[in-house]
Amino acid sequence: MMAASLCQKQCLFALFILAFWINQVIPRQLQQSLLAMSKRHEQWMAKHGKVYEDAEEHQKRFRIFKENVEFIESFNAAGDRSYNLSINQFADLTREEFKKLYLGYKPSHQTGSRNVTSFKYESMIGVPDSVDWRARGAVTSVKSQGSCGGCWAFSAVAAVESMHLINKHVPLDLSEQQLLDCDPLSHGCGGGLMRDAFEYIIANGGITSEKNYPFVEHTQYPCNKASAGYTEVKLSGYQNVPIYSEESLMRAVAKQPVSVAIEASTDNFRFYRDGIFKKDCGSVLNHAVLAVGYGTSPDGIKYWILKNSWAKSWGEGGYMRLARGVAGNVGICGITSDSSFPIA
Ligand SMILES: *[C@@H]1O[C@H](CO)[C@@H](O)[C@H](O)[C@H]1NC(C)=O
Ligand SMILES: *[C@@H]1O[C@H](CO)[C@@H](O)[C@H](O)[C@H]1NC(C)=O
Repeated sequence: MMAASLCQKQCLFALFILAFWINQVIPRQLQQSLLAMSKRHEQWMAKHGKVYEDAEEHQKRFRIFKENVEFIESFNAAGDRSYNLSINQFADLTREEFKKLYLGYKPSHQTGSRNVTSFKYESMIGVPDSVDWRARGAVTSVKSQGSCGGCWAFSAVAAVESMHLINKHVPLDLSEQQLLDCDPLSHGCGGGLMRDAFEYIIANGGITSEKNYPFVEHTQYPCNKASAGYTEVKLSGYQNVPIYSEESLMRAVAKQPVSVAIEASTDNFRFYRDGIFKKDCGSVLNHAVLAVGYGTSPDGIKYWILKNSWAKSWGEGGYMRLARGVAGNVGICGITSDSSFPIA
């Protein structure tokens, strides 16, 4: 009791000093907007279960949060865009921190022995105008890669899950953790490639279930060979979609969901909420997702449908619509630069 009341007195005193200081030094309007922002930060922290180590960290995160909120709100206020942004779970991170934690496609490392075969849908005719594998029940639930740069594993696993759903009509969540720990060519949560993931699954004689080898949000070496050996879905091979062609990618996506690489490091991409994302990214590949369809909006804008692994709270319930047919051969965010899909 004694200690508590002492602390209360001290805290009140500290608050009094702070209030006095704010009152003296900062103009009234700015005070009010800072207090309002601080309240929003607290509410956002509660919503996303954020806890900071100490007051210094809290201060630092508040400054970053404030900057991001101002960016998001001024973008939305402009109101002449095809998409909106939201103050999502990434709002207290700098761009660099975000890149390090949530991306993880590593384009330029050596790839291994190839079980790749040539693209079988190139001469396909009657490509449909629109496809949405979600509506056909061929897409598993949206996952969260947490703070693990394992997007490549989530993209590859999502592609295999969809392939399995199309072939067997049985929903089954497969193990990203197995790929993170066991694919010898990847760097686990430090990054990797979907093609290498397919190679590993082929060489391993299959991939096990999520239940059998659950996701723990960090790489665990060594690979758990016992769990990895209990395989649920096998692959006979995989194919690469010819690069720099949205027509080829459409043919592939018309047949099954396809793993694609994109650039996702801009603030616009990070804070995307809804609508059709246009132009605000480059084509330096650093993220991997799953293309699960394509279509055209009522006002005539063509788009791809991408399944991300940043939980349902990001984008349109975990998905993004990305403009199609407007950025030359490479496509927006480099979407045609490295696409592949597994074969049963
Ligand atoms: C895939 O590659 C492995 C390792 O090089 C090889 O042993 C296997 O026969 C290949 N499988 C196919 C289907 O080509
Ligand atoms: C952006 O948000 C506004 C307000 O919620 C909404 O009316 C509008 O339809 C959204 N725009 C897009 C492209 O989704």
